[in-house]
Amino acid sequence: MTTCLVTGGAGFIGCALSSVLPEHFDRVVALDNMHPQVHESPERPAALDERVELVVGDVTSAADWDALLADVKPTVVVHLAAETGTAQSLTEATRHALVNVVGTTEMLDALVRHDALPEKVVLTSSRAVYGEGAWAAADGSLTYPGQRSDAMLEAGQWDFPGLTPTPFESSRVTPTPTSVYGSTKLAQENVLTSWCLALNVTPVLYRLQNVYGPGQSLSNPYTGIVSFFAQRAKAGEVIPVYEDGQIIRDFVYIDDVARAIVQGVLHSGANRHAYDIGSGEGTSIMRLAELIAENYGAPAPQVNGMFRNGDVRAASCDISAAEAALDWHPQVMVEEGVRRLCTFIDSVLDSRV
Ligand SMILES: NC(=O)c1ccc[n+]([C@@H]2O[C@H](COP(=O)([O-])OP(=O)(O)OC[C@H]3O[C@@H](n4cnc5c(N)ncnc54)[C@H](O)[C@@H]3O)[C@@H](O)[C@H]2O)c1
Repeated sequence: MTTCLVTGGAGFIGCALSSVLPEHFDRVVALDNMHPQVHESPERPAALDERVELVVGDVTSAADWDALLADVKPTVVVHLAAETGTAQSLTEATRHALVNVVGTTEMLDALVRHDALPEKVVLTSSRAVYGEGAWAAADGSLTYPGQRSDAMLEAGQWDFPGLTPTPFESSRVTPTPTSVYGSTKLAQENVLTSWCLALNVTPVLYRLQNVYGPGQSLSNPYTGIVSFFAQRAKAGEVIPVYEDGQIIRDFVYIDDVARAIVQGVLHSGANRHAYDIGSGEGTSIMRLAELIAENYGAPAPQVNGMFRNGDVRAASCDISAAEAALDWHPQVMVEEGVRRLCTFIDSVLDSRV
């Protein structure tokens, strides 16, 4: 009997995986604490496929792991459970470290304690591990500019003078996280990889860019700029755009992420490097805001010059290694994905009035 255990399996990405994994495993179990910041209600989410068994429990609790693993012997673990608030992690560092790092070590200890080593553990890490990543000088040489200082931002100096950003790629760009969240995700990667390689378990690491699409939480104020913008535009308001509007992100559609993860679950072998998962295209925040405003016939977005400490200026990735290794290609680019997200938001919000 094959079993897939998905921690954080009732969340955005977990629900998207839930209709596919039961086609490949005899049993699929989601362990999730139904975090109130993510879930408006503690009820089982409608989007979680009915073939998935939901066990309500906390990855930081050894007792919850003992209760689960007495019954569940996973063939593959997909480890999604995490605290994900990048800005929030500055003021709630302990909570992020506890769930992301200690939650991972509690899981690994429990798997050993119950003699339940899986064949493979798939981890969804984040582009946040790169921080600002590597920027190129005029002569083509790469440099790591680090974090933008408060003084730079106060002066409206958004970019690093004389440098241009380069796409993240795990074999070329060394992680230099600039948030507590990013640091905990990097620690998760390192802990998991060391453990897996020592115990002959295959680690599969993904560094996801900004995932968006139908099913994402509309109530969590700490994640999801796409849904925040869409809700403003739907209300007929001007979308406020930070800095000069030229912050770059790679928005990757939820179904493309789910397909990439399933490919890793089913087909990938051990790989020293993490897979960078994005759409492969950088999009400015202004472009995103314009797409959303056009979709709703809302007023033109406006740059407001405000900024958030710790936001990275440019985040996009080179997906060619992931495409080759996983036989996977993103299919939904941002124009179409935004349209689908807005349709989802309309269906959720219009049903409430
Ligand atoms: N969505 C993105 O843009 C994005 C980008 C990069 C990386 N990731 C990573 O992907 C993973 C899943 O993200 P998501 O977008 O589905 O987030 P999400 O918040 O929708 O889902 C996370 C799930 O984990 C659960 N959870 C939180 N703390 C828990 C705990 N202590 N014990 C058990 N369950 C707990 C939550 O209830 C939620 O259902 C995370 O590891 C995140 O770091 C997401």
